Amino acid sequence: MANLVVVGTQWGDEGKGKFVDILSERADTIVRFQGGHNAGHTIKVGSTTYKLSLLPSGIIRENKTVVIGNGVVLDPWKLMEEIRLIESMGIKIKDRLMIADNIPLILQYHRELDLDREQEAGEDKIGTTGRGIGPAYEDKVGRRAIRSGDLLKDDEHIRARLQIALKHHNKLRNYPVNENWTFEQIKDIAKEIIPYIKPVWKHLHTLMEENKDMLFEGAQGSSLDVDWGTYPFVTSSNTIAGMASIGTGVPHNKITNVLGITKAYTTRVGEGPMKTELFDDIGKHLADMGKEKGTVTGRGRRCGWFDATQVRKTCMLNGVTGIALTKIDVLDELETIKIYNGEGYEEHKGWLSSTAGLTQHEDLPNEAKAYIKRIEELVGVEVVLISTGPDREDTITLKDPFN
Ligand code: IMP
Repeated sequence: MANLVVVGTQWGDEGKGKFVDILSERADTIVRFQGGHNAGHTIKVGSTTYKLSLLPSGIIRENKTVVIGNGVVLDPWKLMEEIRLIESMGIKIKDRLMIADNIPLILQYHRELDLDREQEAGEDKIGTTGRGIGPAYEDKVGRRAIRSGDLLKDDEHIRARLQIALKHHNKLRNYPVNENWTFEQIKDIAKEIIPYIKPVWKHLHTLMEENKDMLFEGAQGSSLDVDWGTYPFVTSSNTIAGMASIGTGVPHNKITNVLGITKAYTTRVGEGPMKTELFDDIGKHLADMGKEKGTVTGRGRRCGWFDATQVRKTCMLNGVTGIALTKIDVLDELETIKIYNGEGYEEHKGWLSSTAGLTQHEDLPNEAKAYIKRIEELVGVEVVLISTGPDREDTITLKDPFN
């Protein structure tokens, strides 16, 4: 049995979706354990591009089971919308998706609060995705969330849970939430998602007993972790690998490997510090070549050089056992490539030739090999996979990340 967690080692958008898709071929079940539909995972298979926010990326492989664990905050309307979209692309979801029965739900008043706060914050805004993620996690720790499992109970119970939540929320708003309308909305969507709600922790423990492999799909990146990231400019969940245990019910000592998805340069969406940000033509070049636009919000991503101190720290926090280095081909046209090493910038000679689509390490130009080697040295973890383009095939495999 090997259980692998895939996490981002920077600020998200490292290219996790592609690797979760590739590695899900090996796993029996693919599990999301934190975040919500603030995430955006793009997967390209042939001429089809799938954009997922909530469904685990394994969903596009028809024989796999996918699980949304309790560490996620779930917008049930968004989930149904995504299910319908993916089904319209010819993929069956029924009997393959399970939702934990202890997931906090994101309701309309969470989205409204998120957007209102961001607007009122002016210059102090976080730059959230506006999806209600933060307010929903607040309700979870505030013990007033309505959870997936509540939907399985009678109307009186749901009404009581809603009233507790609204007692809090109405104090934060200019006008009260319409309780009856919200109740009806919840009842309506409940019908659609109830078939998926299960005690998934039991299912995962059965898989472990059967020695099946599991893949845990992280969302966002480690520097957005609510404890370990660039607080307060972070998301509201723990994004590092330890959360895979808490967010699913799989004990931490059953999680054997951690793959750290790492972009060959740095990007960030939203506000907050970014040590190596470039405001010049090179920054623009990285954004253009890397198509650095958010999957969820369409916002442009800030771009900069590789920050080895950031990735070294996040690899330590996650216990990363191997790195998947992505988007190396975005650097193809640069004469000089810089890395921030903690003391200053070191300059590396660019390779000025195309690495796009390469599948063999020996075909990489020497300068690219040297750049990758230097990243390994500074970060202290081996690079086991290299991505040279968006397709599944555009991958150099050096080692099996499950072992
Ligand atoms: P929230 O998660 O919507 O509350 O946003 C908080 C911060 O996390 C903002 O800076 C967002 O841009 C960032 N963020 C949230 N999800 C993602 C993601 O999937 N990729 C990159 N940044 C994200």
